[in-house]
Amino acid sequence: MTELKMQVNLGGLLMKNPVATASGTYGFGLEYKDYIDISQLGAIVGKGTTLLPKAGNAPPRMAETPAGMLNSVGLENPGLEAVIRDVLPKLRPYDVPLVMNISGNTAEEYGEMAARLTGVAGVAALEVNISCPNVKMGGLAFGTDPRAAALVTETVRKNTSLPVIVKLSPNVGDIAGIAKSVEAAGATAISLINTILGMAIDIRAQKPLLANIMGGLSGPAVKPVALRMVWQVAQAVKIPLMGIGGISIWQDAVEFLLAGASAVQVGTANFVDPQTPLSVLRGIEDYLRENGYSDIKQIIGLARSAT
Ligand code: SIN
Repeated sequence: MTELKMQVNLGGLLMKNPVATASGTYGFGLEYKDYIDISQLGAIVGKGTTLLPKAGNAPPRMAETPAGMLNSVGLENPGLEAVIRDVLPKLRPYDVPLVMNISGNTAEEYGEMAARLTGVAGVAALEVNISCPNVKMGGLAFGTDPRAAALVTETVRKNTSLPVIVKLSPNVGDIAGIAKSVEAAGATAISLINTILGMAIDIRAQKPLLANIMGGLSGPAVKPVALRMVWQVAQAVKIPLMGIGGISIWQDAVEFLLAGASAVQVGTANFVDPQTPLSVLRGIEDYLRENGYSDIKQIIGLARSAT
C-alpha cells in the first residue's frame, strides 16, 4: 500500500494528520480515551477555558434540532490554573498535540492567558475564541468587529511564541474582512466556523427552550454555511485554515479540504459516535489512495483551482 503523507503544518502547529476534535465536544480528550486511541488524532482542541472558573449558563442549555443541536453552555470550565494543574499532566502520556481554546472578557485577559500558557508542557498552540455566542462579555463581541478581533489577536501574539489560531464567528456579514484583520494582526492560522446564533421555542410551555433564550447551532445543518465561509476566507488570506462545521463523515472533511482548509475539526458528531474523527481520517486516506494522491497537501484548495 502506498505510504501516504498526512502531516500538516497549521501555522506552526504540527499535526500528524489533518483531523482534530473541536472545542467543547471532546473535553480535553481524556474523557474519550477509553473509547478511541486519542494518540491517533491530529490534535485535540480543549474545552473553552477562561482565566477564572466559570459556572456557565443556567439549564436547560442544550436542545436538539433537525440535523443539529443548540447549546448555550456559557463556557463552563474550572479556570486556567485548574486546567494547567489537574488536566494537562494527565494528557502527557498521549502522543497528540493539545490546542488550548481561550476566552477572555478583555483583550488584556486573553494576553494574560496566552503568556501563562506559553511554555506549559503539552500545550502546542492556542485557539483564540472570539466567537462564543453564549457570554455577555468578550466572545462574540470581539469576533464581529474587525478592530476588536485584531486587538485581541495582536495582544495574544505579543504575549506568546505559540501558534495563534483565531476561531471566527459565522455571525457576521463579512467573514473575509474579519479574517484579513486577524491575519494582519498576527494570527498564524484561522479556524472557522463557531456556532450560528439560533433559538427554539417549547410550544407547550410557550417559552424559549433554552434558559439563555439563544444558543449556538452546530451539526450537519450548518455545514453548507461553514463550507461557504471557508471558501471565502481561503481566497482572502494566506495563512492556513482549519474547517469546522457539521463534519460527520469523511466526505464532509474532503469537501472542506478541497475548499481550501488544511485541516478540519470534528465537533457535534462526537456526541453521536466518539469514533467519528478516526473514521473521517480513514475515509480521507482511502480517498487519497483511490484517487492516486500520496500527500494530503495535493488536495488542499483543489476545488478552487477548478473554478
Ligand atoms: C459555550 O461554552 O457556550 C460554547 C463555546 C463556544 O461556542 O465558543
